[in-house]
Amino acid sequence: MRLLCFIFSLLLILSYCATAVEIMTPENNAVVNSGKLYLVFTATDGARVVVKRGIEAKFLFVKKENKVAVYHYLLMLKKGRNLFYIDPEGKALRLIYKQKNSTISFKFHRKKIEKRCNKCHSLKASGKLCFNCHKFKKGSRIYMHGPFAKRKCFSCHSSGYVKGVRFGLKGNSDFSLCSQCHFAPLVWRKMLYQHGPFAARNCTACHDPHEGNFRFLLKYEPKKGLCLACHRDKAKEFSSEGYRFHPILSAKGCVICHDPHASDYPKQLYDTPFKVCISCHPRFGKIKKGHPIVAHPVVGPLIPGTNEKLTCSSCHNPHGSPYESLLYAPRAGSRVCLKCHKY
Ligand code: HEC
Ligand code: HEC
Ligand code: HEC
Ligand code: HEC
Ligand code: HEC
Ligand code: HEC
Ligand code: HEC
Ligand code: HEC
Ligand code: HEC
Ligand code: HEC
Repeated sequence: MRLLCFIFSLLLILSYCATAVEIMTPENNAVVNSGKLYLVFTATDGARVVVKRGIEAKFLFVKKENKVAVYHYLLMLKKGRNLFYIDPEGKALRLIYKQKNSTISFKFHRKKIEKRCNKCHSLKASGKLCFNCHKFKKGSRIYMHGPFAKRKCFSCHSSGYVKGVRFGLKGNSDFSLCSQCHFAPLVWRKMLYQHGPFAARNCTACHDPHEGNFRFLLKYEPKKGLCLACHRDKAKEFSSEGYRFHPILSAKGCVICHDPHASDYPKQLYDTPFKVCISCHPRFGKIKKGHPIVAHPVVGPLIPGTNEKLTCSSCHNPHGSPYESLLYAPRAGSRVCLKCHKY
């Protein structure tokens, strides 16, 4: 009787093993920071992933080992909660995609999880081996960061386990990481006016640490796209009807006047607004008076009723405007004059 029972339960376990879906990575209910994630699981042949909430589950391939099939999928997540089913069993996988880096986020490189892959993958800490799993878009990206191109992953990622997790970043901020090799940030740090994300030491808000399609490894098109990714109010202003850009902004982008990191002048300009303007419009540098009308001061005196000093950008919007000559208001009817003079 006992023996029968034993054999019976063994059979049960075996049949269970044969049909069971076992997810090897990621963990159910994991919070993740990336919109792309690998899903690897074992199942009987013929299993598939069904997307309930999420963008896509891209099937890569299945590899059989001793009758067990190991499925590789690439999941595309949308922000918030994502739900997938692995059929025919209907096993659920829930994931929460939060863009902000959080310390509680899912980490793959822990012994317990890594060892599930050992049979077929080498998980030695070698820069070359990383690419077997991490499919960085080789070739399609134009610019590669020096140490990444040389596969010196461990100049930035630590090779050993720190608090149970491997490949964490060296340095407790981007700033301390990047300034191991770059000295310019140490100079920028001493400047009077520091740009928001730079002051927050968040280099990777703008730079990809590995590779990119844009010069300086920038994450977005550098002329306007990068800046407008955060400065949404400016994007709105620029798309207003009849808006015309300052020709130099279209040609050279925002960084021709603003430093993206820091400077000694307000708004991270390379100089005072007046000097920035006359660096390209030198004929206005020689006059103190006479523009836009005879005897009108160009720079210097206080604007009536304010504490602000008159300068070029008091009348001209340095970025652009829907009106002639980048003015803040139309010239017609002297409306531009009304900003400062009550007639
Ligand atoms: C049964 C063997 C086997 C097991 C177990 C296995 N893999 Fe794989 N995996 C492979 C093979 C074979 C390839 C290479 C396929 C190819 O040639 O592109 C691969 C490729 C990959 C890739 C690259 C996929 C791509 O985008 O092309 C990733 C990522 C990956 N495996 C992750 C894992 C992880 C994580 C585990 C453990 C949870 C794991 N694999 C377990 C066999 C396995
Ligand atoms: C067996 C495949 C595999 C190999 C080999 C591998 N990784 Fe990973 N790695 C993963 C998976 C799976 C994740 C989780 C993210 C995902 O699914 O895209 C991950 C995540 C990471 C992360 C994010 C933190 C974490 O633990 O989730 C870092 C950093 C990382 N890998 C670095 C490396 C480096 C450096 C190497 C080479 C020394 C390497 N990986 C080799 C599969 C692999
Ligand atoms: C210059 C420093 C630096 C080097 C060199 C570097 N990394 Fe990274 N890596 C980072 C930083 C910083 C992050 C965090 C990115 C973020 O928060 O946006 C990161 C994140 C990652 C991640 C997780 C997120 C992702 O982008 O998929 C993986 C995987 C990874 N690195 C793999 C590698 C591999 C493999 C190499 C070597 C070929 C390497 N890294 C070399 C700095 C570096
Ligand atoms: C291990 C040293 C090392 C670390 C750490 C490092 N870099 Fe670099 N970086 C380099 C090298 C080497 C180059 C290539 C220099 C060259 O080709 O002129 C480079 C180039 C760059 C460039 C392009 C500069 C140019 O003139 O084209 C940028 C931008 C950059 N790194 C940003 C970063 C950021 C952001 C970090 C931190 C996430 C960082 N680097 C961390 C070594 C490093
Ligand atoms: C707001 C976006 C932004 C942030 C944040 C940012 N950068 Fe940059 N960075 C840029 C842009 C844009 C350029 C290209 C400047 C140009 O075209 O003149 C650049 C250029 C660079 C260069 C190469 C040119 C040079 O002037 O030496 C390095 C190195 C660099 N950044 C490092 C860093 C480091 C390190 C951090 C964090 C401490 C950081 N950046 C933060 C936008 C940013
Ligand atoms: C990652 C987000 C981000 C990006 C990208 C970014 N900025 Fe900023 N910017 C900020 C934040 C945050 C502040 C600080 C806002 C505050 O203090 O009110 C700021 C402030 C500024 C200021 C000062 C505004 C003021 O009223 O004092 C200027 C000028 C500026 N950014 C220009 C730029 C330019 C030019 C670029 C592109 C090279 C750029 N920003 C890209 C986030 C960003
Ligand atoms: C021709 C030089 C020039 C260019 C190009 C330029 N700026 Fe400015 N920007 C200025 C000046 C000058 C000021 C200060 C105006 C003042 O204080 O009177 C300023 C102010 C700002 C401010 C703070 C005040 C405001 O208008 O909100 C932000 C934010 C800003 N610029 C973002 C940008 C962005 C984003 C770009 C690119 C799309 C850009 N700038 C391109 C010269 C320029
Ligand atoms: C890096 C060079 C550069 C800087 C800095 C610069 N400009 Fe310009 N600006 C130009 C160019 C180029 C043009 C188009 C050719 C021309 O009209 O001279 C232009 C055109 C103009 C025009 C005429 C636009 C039109 O629609 O007729 C005005 C007005 C103007 N700029 C004002 C300013 C003011 C104000 C500043 C300072 C906030 C400034 N510029 C800073 C290069 C620059
Ligand atoms: C008090 C307001 C005011 C100030 C201050 C001012 N401008 Fe103007 N600007 C105007 C007006 C109004 C026009 C249109 C005049 C016209 O079309 O004859 C104009 C036209 C221009 C033009 C296009 C026409 C031309 O002459 O080329 C440029 C360029 C220009 N200004 C640059 C500047 C620069 C540079 C400064 C600072 C040194 C400056 N302006 C200061 C009001 C001003
Ligand atoms: C951004 C503010 C501003 C705008 C716009 C402006 N002005 Fe002025 N205006 C001033 C300042 C500042 C003074 C000098 C006041 C002082 O000396 O205390 C001045 C002085 C004058 C004077 C007296 C000049 C003198 O002889 O002392 C006249 C006339 C004048 N403005 C006419 C105009 C006209 C016409 C316009 C429109 C085309 C105009 N202003 C646009 C700021 C402005």
